Amino acid sequence: MRIGIYGGSFDPVHNGHIAMINSALKSGFIDCVIVVPSVRNSFKLYSNKLPPPYRFYMMKETVDGLGIKNCYVSDIEYSVEGVSYTAVVLEKLTSDAYIRNFLISNDVKRKKAEEHHEFFWIMGSDTLGTFETWYKPGEILNYVTLFAAVRPGDDTDVEKAAASVRKNLGGNVEIFRLKGIECSSSAITESGDFSEVPEPAVEFIRRHALYTENTKLSGISDDTRKQFFEIAVWMYQYLGGKRLLHTLNVGYLSAHLADVFGCDKDKALIAGALHDCAKELPLDEQFELAKRYSGDLFTEKKLLHSPAGASFAREQLGIEDKEILDAICYHTTGRGNMNLLEKIVYLADKIEPARNYTDLTPIRAAAEKNLESAMRMTAAAVRDKFVSQGRDIHPMTVLMMKDLNM
Ligand SMILES: [Fe+2]
Ligand SMILES: [Fe+2]
Repeated sequence: MRIGIYGGSFDPVHNGHIAMINSALKSGFIDCVIVVPSVRNSFKLYSNKLPPPYRFYMMKETVDGLGIKNCYVSDIEYSVEGVSYTAVVLEKLTSDAYIRNFLISNDVKRKKAEEHHEFFWIMGSDTLGTFETWYKPGEILNYVTLFAAVRPGDDTDVEKAAASVRKNLGGNVEIFRLKGIECSSSAITESGDFSEVPEPAVEFIRRHALYTENTKLSGISDDTRKQFFEIAVWMYQYLGGKRLLHTLNVGYLSAHLADVFGCDKDKALIAGALHDCAKELPLDEQFELAKRYSGDLFTEKKLLHSPAGASFAREQLGIEDKEILDAICYHTTGRGNMNLLEKIVYLADKIEPARNYTDLTPIRAAAEKNLESAMRMTAAAVRDKFVSQGRDIHPMTVLMMKDLNM
């Protein structure tokens, strides 16, 4: 097959990106496109607006939602350690071992997936002009033909840029016509005008309350911002999409609530983001991890992931801060004498933007003003749920409720 590869931050994905994919597919040069949302882009390390998993799942939902045929989204950059230089990513992506499995997992017929493939690197005509300054451009050309898009009325001298690449690096360059508008992700997030963002992405952004004041992470230290991005990448291997985005949403909301109620914002971001990190580990592993954090305090299957998460974060990420670890440990049950950080993570878990198990509007409104009252409303909802299911309320939750005068 002839395979186009399209890398980018997609922060957020916009109609210009979609036009690029569609025009490349229509060019007749290629049979399919693999989109590769960046993880640690060499140009913008940690300066993206959103951590990688949001951009990956937003792209996936957009391609699915728009029904773009022969277009697949790859998470290959999650398996690259350090900066995801194009040359490094391409070496992995174009290897037989990866590409065959990837195509088959995207429902490409085995016979097609296993034939010989040719690869094309999709790029704008403007980037073609700077290609020779990239990291190991000669190596990139060992894997791909450059596939540059030209827009009608484009004033870049594409032929000249292509000739220069051919002469200096000896690679192949092909040019295709791009039918579509010019947009930029940064202009979209700066202006707040999302009209050039495709509908499925708009819905994704709305569901997770992205590109808002809360996701700007203002007041968060650079080190913690970096840690948050790295945690998001690390958790990608342990959690499915829905839960991963949930736990990251709790990070953002916890940081916001820390602002409102005068708690340490950096700690709230990290504790919230990590609170469900162990939830999809095998139960026996959760059990062992839980024991190492809190002995026999928790035995119920559904609760194990909380102390297990504290252990997992401590052992895998080296997090030693007791307040962060306890906020993770008690996020499901609460306990007596909870500190501010524990309350914030407990609450954020129940009301982050993507939660919709009941009408959360009143609790969300209360959470902006009065922590205790929002906690009381949440605990009451939990109690009602348990009573209706005939389940016992955990003794530590009972202690928390007592503290809340319930
Ligand atoms: Fe949880
Ligand atoms: Fe959770």
